Formats: sequence, structure tokens, C-alpha cells
Amino acid sequence: MTEVGVSDMAIYVPPFYLAHEDLGRARGVPPEKYHLGLGNYSISILPNWEDGVTMAANAAAQLLEKTGTVPDEIGQLVVSTESGVDHSKPVASFVQGLLGIGERCRIYEIKHACYGGTAGLVNSIDWISRNCHAPKKALVIMSDIARYAFGSPGEPTQGAGAVALLVERNPRLFSVDTRMNGIFSKDVFDFWRPTGHRVPIVDGKYSIDCYLEALQGAYSHFRSNLGVERGKLLEKIDYLIYHMPFSNMARKAHRHLIDLEYDGLEPSVKERLFEETFARKVEPSLLGSRQVGNIYTGSVYMGLISLLETEKEKAEGKRVGIFSYGSGCGAEFFLCQMKSGIEGIIRGLRFQELLERRKKITFEKYVQTYSKSWEETFYHPGEVEVFKDDFTRFVFTGFKDHKRQYL
Ligand code: CAA
Repeated sequence: MTEVGVSDMAIYVPPFYLAHEDLGRARGVPPEKYHLGLGNYSISILPNWEDGVTMAANAAAQLLEKTGTVPDEIGQLVVSTESGVDHSKPVASFVQGLLGIGERCRIYEIKHACYGGTAGLVNSIDWISRNCHAPKKALVIMSDIARYAFGSPGEPTQGAGAVALLVERNPRLFSVDTRMNGIFSKDVFDFWRPTGHRVPIVDGKYSIDCYLEALQGAYSHFRSNLGVERGKLLEKIDYLIYHMPFSNMARKAHRHLIDLEYDGLEPSVKERLFEETFARKVEPSLLGSRQVGNIYTGSVYMGLISLLETEKEKAEGKRVGIFSYGSGCGAEFFLCQMKSGIEGIIRGLRFQELLERRKKITFEKYVQTYSKSWEETFYHPGEVEVFKDDFTRFVFTGFKDHKRQYL
């Protein structure tokens, strides 16, 4: 069977961040709570001249350019997001226009909280596996702005960013056999955003319970699909990436997985096993979550980019397990088989460079920026043009006749 998977990836995060020390000082919270309690150091802040559309297009433009992909090669363009800009018109259609993707292309938006990105990826892999419209490729983009109410417990876990994946047969970066994927879903209210609400309603502690229950369901389904007995799964996985609303969620998740896998083992032995496997298999994926915050749909894929940036060529040929979770809830546990000869792809990610170009903003500037709605933002196109650079290729310039305008 021909292998299908991802040939390359690109990430975009906006050019501003708020440091957790500054947020803590303003909110009267000691920074250790954020650094040690949540495992995070800063959050990416989206300026008013960007939105879910520009972040998606900015990530995808980089990806098409560096892979030399021409727009007509794309037969399916999927944008997964819970930060949509319209009840009817999908973000994917705006992106099609900005990138000049051709008309013979299936275009749609997917929503299932943070799990939506994985839904887009596995559906695109299956679409290509069925040889639909061969040799066309799929462009899968995850783009989100994680916003919570000012002063709420979720506030320090905010973030913004987009990840784009190029899916095709005989992939250069990693393949996925979706027949093995472990799946779990359940109707719950852990985190939701009723139509018209700007920020979500969150039952924070319960959301962690739902996440861990979904991990248990999806991981045990995956293990049985693979035909691996309990206690042997970690031998089959070199690295593990968990959905990260904050980086310590990966610690909670890994501890839960170890408890499930090694039920009955003496607690101190289990603890040693947890610390050792966490440092080796999980820690390399935490870079993005710690600096950018939650980017919802793109979170686990930013984890994969972080892993590649951190491990470089050590990741070649390795098996990477991914646990993707979305509130509501839906989850999937699957394996990425990394290819060899991927040094050039890793160099082209430029994630560290993207993080280093960000400018720190004050708490006051953050409050001012996030107090405005896009509808209040009217810019003269010439004014926002100056914010364009090698990473920010597209900016939002306001509304004309109720139509969003981009440059
Ligand atoms: N020094 C060190 N650590 C400290 C501390 C201090 N001074 N003060 C508190 N802490 C620790 C606490 O002990 C706690 O650690 P443990 O979880 O290991 O016990 C941690 O900091 C968090 O503190 P609280 O227990 O007081 O919790 P909180 O009120 O800050 O809320 C949260 C935490 C529920 C995760 C909240 O941030 C939230 O609601 N976030 C949004 C929802 C979310 O991310 N849910 C995750 C699962 S759902 C999902 O994954 C989907 C998604 O993307 C949203």
C-alpha cells in the first residue's frame, strides 16, 4: 500500500507576546504559579490587524513557498478552527483567495474544538489514500486564537497561532496509517463557546477530567488496534506529544498513561519510570506551549514542530505518538512514522527564529488590544501595510460593505 502522510509543515505565530511575570504582577498572582503550576512563560498576542484568516494564510504561504508547491497542485484545502470569522463563509475560502488556490479544489472548514485539526488531517490522508483526484495534494491548516475572559483561570493559558501541513502520497516528513488510530468521543460540557460569545465558558477542573478520560479511551483503542499488550506500548513509541492547553497538561497526561500502562507496579518504580520517560519522550515537544500558549487546533502540531526543532536529526526514523483532544469532546491517538533525510525540512521550520522576532508588550497594551472587537477596527490599508514582513505576508485591513478586507 502506498504510504500517505505529511511532506512538510509551517508555523506562524503573531509578532507580540505578554510575559507571565507581567500578567502575574497585574493579577496579583506569583509567577511561580504560572511557571511551575502551569509550566508556561509567555503567551502570544494577536494584534488587531491579524485574525484567524491571516494566521492561516501566513502559515500556508510559507509552506507552499518552501516546498515549491503551485496552487493548482492542491485538490483539497481544509482549515480547522474554532475562531471562525463568519457563520457561513469558511476561513478556507478567504485563504483560497489570498493564496490563489485554483477552482478545482474542495474547500471547507472543520470545527471540533482543539480536535478539529486532527479531523482535517486524518480525513485528508484518507482522501488521498483512496486515490481521489490523484496526484493532487491536500493543504490542511489549523488556525486559532485562544482567548479567555480577563482575570479568569484560563487567561494565562491564552495564545494564538497557525500550523499548515502538506499531505500527499510518499510523504517526505512522516506517514500515518490511520487504520490503527484509537478514537474516543463523548457528549460533555467541559469547555464551550455559545454562538455570539467572545470567550468560552469553562469548567476548568472538569475539563481536565474529560481530557484524561478521553486519553484513556483513545490510547486503549490504539493499543488494541496495534495488538500490543498492556505495559509494552512505550516500547513501540519513541516520542509522545499530548494536546497542550498549557505545558503541564502533558505531565498530567503522561502520568495518567503510565498509571494505566503499569497498573500494579510499585509506586516508587512507577514514579521513576514516569520521570525518565517524560524527560526523554515528552519534554522535547514542550517548547511552543511554554512560549506561545494554547493554539487550540494547532497545539499538538506545534508540539511536533517543537520536537523537531529540539531533537533535530535525532528524530529521523522515529515513531511519534500523538494524542489529540478537543473539548465537547473528541480525541484520537495515532502514530507518525518519521522519515530519514529530513534535516533540510527541520531547518526550514524556522520556529526558533519566529519566536525570537516577537516583541514583548505591556499588560496595559494587551488589555487595550483584547478589549477591541474586529468590528471596531478600521484601518486605512496603507497603515497596516508596514506590519508585513517575511513571516506576516497578509494583514486584515477592516470591513467594506460587511466584507472583511485583506492586503
Ligand atoms: N507555585 C507553584 N505552583 C502553584 C502555585 C504557586 N504559587 N499556585 C498554584 N500552583 C499550581 C497548583 O498546585 C496547580 O497544580 P496541579 O494542577 O499540579 O495541582 C496549578 O498551579 C494550577 O492551579 P489551580 O489548581 O489553582 O488551578 P487554576 O484555577 O489556575 O486553573 C485550569 C487551572 C483549570 C487549567 C485553568 O487554567 C483553566 O480553566 N484553563 C482552561 C481550560 C483548560 O485548559 N483545560 C484543560 C483540559 S481541556 C483542553 O485541553 C481543551 C483546551 O485546549 C481548552
